[in-house]
Amino acid sequence: MFFTKRFAVSALSLLAAGFALYIAGRPGTPVLAAPAAGPAYSADGEMLPPANYREWVFLSSGLGMSYTPQGADHLMFDNVFVNPEAYRSFLQTGAWPDKTMLVLEVREARNKGSINLHGHYQGTGVMGMEVHVKDTARFPSGWAFFDFDTPASKGTLIPSGAPCYRCHQDHGAVDTTFVQFYPTLLPIARQKGTLAAAYRKDSAANSGK
Ligand code: HEC
Repeated sequence: MFFTKRFAVSALSLLAAGFALYIAGRPGTPVLAAPAAGPAYSADGEMLPPANYREWVFLSSGLGMSYTPQGADHLMFDNVFVNPEAYRSFLQTGAWPDKTMLVLEVREARNKGSINLHGHYQGTGVMGMEVHVKDTARFPSGWAFFDFDTPASKGTLIPSGAPCYRCHQDHGAVDTTFVQFYPTLLPIARQKGTLAAAYRKDSAANSGK
C-alpha cells in the first residue's frame, strides 16, 4: 500500500513536470519581442521589435551624414548596432551570417544643455529606427529593410524596389552593408578579402583624388 501510494505521487509529479516543459516549449506561445538570437515576425509579416538591441555590439555613430549635396535640415546622430552572434562571426570570416540584424537608430543632435559649450551630444528621444536583416529563407535577395516608428513598435517591411536597396547594393562595402563606416570591421573585411568589387573600385578611384 505504502509503495503504491508513493509510486502514484511520483508518477503525478513527473506528469506535472512534463506538462510544464510542454507548455514552455510550445511553438505557438506568444512572443512579445524578438528573441536574442535572431529576427522574429508577426503573422502578417511585420518584424517584432528587437527589444535588447541597446545591449548589442555598437558599430558606429554618424553625425549629420547625408547623401545629397544640400544635406539634412536638422543635425542628427545615427547609431548602428549589430547582434553579438553576427559580430563574432564577422570577426572570424569578414562576412555576415544568416540572421544578422543591424539596427540604425536616429537621435537628435543637441548643443545646448548642462555644461556643454561646444560640440554636440545625443538627445534622449529616438527619432527613428530601421533594421537591415539577413534572412535567406525569407527574402529573395537574402536581405530586407524594416522601418520602425518607435523602438517598441512593430517594423514595416520596405518593398524591394525602394531606393534603400539600390544605394546599399551599389555602395555598401560588404554584402550591401556600410562596413566602410564601421571602424572595427573595415580592417577585417580588408584582411579577409570580403570587400565588394564596386566598393574597391570606388575607393581606388577616390584615393587618386
Ligand atoms: C544614398 C545612399 C543610402 C540610401 C538611399 C539609404 N542608405 Fe542606409 N545607409 C547608408 C550609409 C552611408 C550608411 C552608414 C551609416 C553610418 O555610418 O552611420 C547606412 C546604414 C544603414 C543601416 C545600418 C546597417 C547597414 O546596412 O550598414 C540601416 C539599417 C539602413 N542604412 C537603412 C536604410 C533604409 C531603411 C533606407 C531606405 C529608407 C536606407 N538605408 C537608404 C546609405 C544609404
